[in-house]
Amino acid sequence: MNQHELIEKANQEVERNREMVESDPYRLRFHLMPPVGLLNDPNGFIQFKGVYHLFYQWNPFETAHGAKFWGHYTSKDFINWEHQPIALAPSEWYEKNGCYSGSAIENDGKMVLFYTGNVKDENGDRETYQCMAVSQDGITFEKKGPVIYLPEGYTAHFRDPKVWKKEDTWYMVLGAQDEDKQGKVVLYSSTDLMNWNLLGPLTGSAMNQLGPFGYMWECPDLFELDGKDVLLVSPQGLEPEGDVYHNLFQAGYFVGELDYQKASYQHGSFTELDRGFDFYAPQTTVDEKGRRLLFAWMGITDDNEKYQPTIEKGWIHAMTLPRVLTRKGEKIVQQPVEELQLLRKNEVSYNEVQIITSNVTLEGIKGEALELLFDEIIYEGDSFEINFRGGARFEYSSKLGKMRLQRKNFKDGSIESRHCKIDAVKKLHVFIDTSSIEIFVNDGEEVFTARYYPDVADQTITFSALGRVQFDLKKWDLG
Ligand code: FRU
Repeated sequence: MNQHELIEKANQEVERNREMVESDPYRLRFHLMPPVGLLNDPNGFIQFKGVYHLFYQWNPFETAHGAKFWGHYTSKDFINWEHQPIALAPSEWYEKNGCYSGSAIENDGKMVLFYTGNVKDENGDRETYQCMAVSQDGITFEKKGPVIYLPEGYTAHFRDPKVWKKEDTWYMVLGAQDEDKQGKVVLYSSTDLMNWNLLGPLTGSAMNQLGPFGYMWECPDLFELDGKDVLLVSPQGLEPEGDVYHNLFQAGYFVGELDYQKASYQHGSFTELDRGFDFYAPQTTVDEKGRRLLFAWMGITDDNEKYQPTIEKGWIHAMTLPRVLTRKGEKIVQQPVEELQLLRKNEVSYNEVQIITSNVTLEGIKGEALELLFDEIIYEGDSFEINFRGGARFEYSSKLGKMRLQRKNFKDGSIESRHCKIDAVKKLHVFIDTSSIEIFVNDGEEVFTARYYPDVADQTITFSALGRVQFDLKKWDLG
């Protein structure tokens, strides 16, 4: 099918399923979702002529992975989003099995996309092409075809171009697997966006003192944050280790220095960006206010994906809230963008609430789409727990110096947990949507992100303490 026919077919799929999808009580109120089918990575995140554009990996025809399109949302304020016409459909020989992930830049007043053309033959053998598409208006794109072919030394797991400009040169990082099946991040440069020079691998498994560190690295993003070069990347193949790496795939960062001349990147250790269950393939951009903004896929590819209950209503997955990144030493801190405050309604406020028993509820603190801000948290005791709508529990044990988020496993309903060490929980900023939760701890020092599926009718938030806990609390309904 040609691009026009594919887009027609996808639009029909949206229309045909609209009523069913929108009838889902788990449809989110203030997160971006696919209109039908499956959404995964954020792509092409950019502020272009004042407007934020967020593209996304999209399979409109199934709630499973497949030949991806680039869906497209725009917004001026991160509150009101418009769904735009499909930006890319997998119509050409070099992308016939998917217009895979990539990024956007502005050049000479035009928006330029770089993405991976994914091709699989009858035997399942893969080919990969790094492609370019150009737009005058940021809405309709003209494909220019491949600009980078697979170099020697790498397998066809070579994808997800992220492009930026430094002085007069364009740079691109790609996620890769080398011939020894080690995950790598590879750097290219260009002066005209058409001709690209391979500068070499920057870091990866079995490089830079990392030891074995995964068989494939996806979705790299490299940028300067407050004088340091930060690499975000999603490695595949790390084994669980104590509190970390319990999701099937990870998403995290390195802080270091990139030497553009030598194409070498010296960095510290890898840290997970999020401590919850659903956070993958984050992508950033810098906006006109100079903020380093991030969206991530609030989901992950694993064996339990297919048991998410929204599938029976024809859709699956969503984006995280937009977040601002800052750096505190070697640590990357995430905060929800301040624009989200415009969603606030019906404030309820408490000072010095004391919790000394189990299952306490507070008048006015309930709902299915709300924001909770806990401040001045003080403990005299061992632990503090918040139960969200009977579907997720957040617990802080001062005795263990650990936090924990629990939810029901999508497949068998058993309780599963993610943990993280913390010195003291002083502040919690929680965003609860109909089927998601994002918990920013101590002004974004740590974040837990997860989908969860509570009983639709259950809107209760309950508090429990072993010992005594005190806090100030504000609540707003959102949306
Ligand atoms: C990450 C990823 C990317 C790829 C895309 C395909 O989730 O596997 O590496 O480009 O998804 O949808």
